[in-house]
Amino acid sequence: MTITITVRKTGSLFITADDAPNVRLIDHEGNEIPKPPEGKPLSLCRCGASSRKPFCDGTHSKIGFLAGEFAQEIAAQVVPSAAVDVAAPVTEIKT
Ligand code: FES
Repeated sequence: MTITITVRKTGSLFITADDAPNVRLIDHEGNEIPKPPEGKPLSLCRCGASSRKPFCDGTHSKIGFLAGEFAQEIAAQVVPSAAVDVAAPVTEIKT
């Protein structure tokens, strides 16, 4: 079965109510994370600001979260010299 995770442009990782029963969430120690009741979608935080992690609580809209590629577009408009090709492989790491 294919489970679709939708990466929202300025918000969470979204899994429909139909797919949610087939998703198992575990923490870093392998413990199961309880999911919302059956029939509800899963919305996982990717902004880091939710007070209900790993679930989205809508805080992303209050903090103006922009996904990396979207934020990169905005940054390049403001500071063109800061433009970075996020898809390019890392060939050098400066310390
Ligand atoms: S993505 Fe919604 S609170 Fe983080």
